[in-house]
Amino acid sequence: MLSNLKEHPADKILALAQAFKDDPRDQKIDMGVGVYKDAEGRTPVMRAIKAAEKQLWEAETTKAYVGLIGDPAFNTAMRGLILGDAVEDARLASAATPGGTGAVRQAFELLRLANPDATVWVSDPTWPNHMTILKYLGIPTQTYRYFDNSTRAVDFAGMMDDLKAVKAGDLVLLHGCCHNPTGANLSLAEWGVVADHLSATGAVPMIDIAYQGFGDGLEEDAAGTRHLASTLPEMLIAASCSKNFGIYRERTGILIAVSPDAGIAKVTQNNLSFLNRQNYSFPPDHGARLVTMILNDAELRADWQAELEEVRLGMLALREQLAAELRQRTNSDRFDFMAHHRGMFSRLGASPEQVEAMRESHGIYMIGDSRLNIAGLNTKTVPILAEAVVAAGV
Ligand code: LMR
Repeated sequence: MLSNLKEHPADKILALAQAFKDDPRDQKIDMGVGVYKDAEGRTPVMRAIKAAEKQLWEAETTKAYVGLIGDPAFNTAMRGLILGDAVEDARLASAATPGGTGAVRQAFELLRLANPDATVWVSDPTWPNHMTILKYLGIPTQTYRYFDNSTRAVDFAGMMDDLKAVKAGDLVLLHGCCHNPTGANLSLAEWGVVADHLSATGAVPMIDIAYQGFGDGLEEDAAGTRHLASTLPEMLIAASCSKNFGIYRERTGILIAVSPDAGIAKVTQNNLSFLNRQNYSFPPDHGARLVTMILNDAELRADWQAELEEVRLGMLALREQLAAELRQRTNSDRFDFMAHHRGMFSRLGASPEQVEAMRESHGIYMIGDSRLNIAGLNTKTVPILAEAVVAAGV
């Protein structure tokens, strides 16, 4: 049996992380995998998480199973964090999942149960794992134009032109904020145009939101998602707590479905429980419990938000510094997009050869499509990157 297996191509993001580890140079700079790092290159446990863990250790009396959708309190708290009061609770169904990837996977499985003929529309480019999961599940896909390589901004005209071809019931996958891999995001007015188009065609949006709080702020980053939720009858939301709570390895995420009415929401909820049961029974609890404690406690929540804001502003300052360095070195404003992009990622617009050259000459690791993780920098390494970019002729 096992001799029938074939090797799968390595995941590019994870392979790069390994290549970085294997590089013996001291001066190397890791701008690969989407993990936040502080100025010392550490991925700290957030203060509120540590405090909640301490409280939990003292208060927790059992590790017995919780429930197929996880703790209802986690579901309520996360619905509030993402959706605010954009949609009445009776229309919502949700289930905790192992990380944001778990939520993405369950969303696609839910689609397969609900409408096996649907096509999933993904932005070109998108997070590579979207495509591999869809392919693995045998779900038909189409891409829509998203990123203009010359301006390094959203090609909104191209996007809407491509989305003319969506059919009723198709799923249109959108990044809620901090687009991965480009860093280029829709304006609120553009979210409005997308909503109108989906409403007219009957296609269903799916939001992947993994970086809420990393772009323009917790509320601002959810504005597009909330707009769709308040205007459309149906949508799916896959959310991750890995980045904004810094609990990557705890695998904490949630899938939320907005239904047209309470009756459909009830059946959807049943399907989410069923899917969890089929795939892993109970979602992990530890990270979800910490998130719930933080969101429901005024003091912990304030401290979490303050630290998240420090992280966000730190990345914005690095973006400004990088744009300024490159403006000075190239005597042009063609890298100003660095300061306009939001979140951890930007697509630099370098060729694979230039990416390779920067790795060889300066030990700079970014994904082959020239996605860079801005949190991999600090004020001292920004000039090194700027020098490498110019030297590589980007
Ligand atoms: C990334 O895009 O680097 C992150 O979302 C981590 C991952 O799982 O790929």
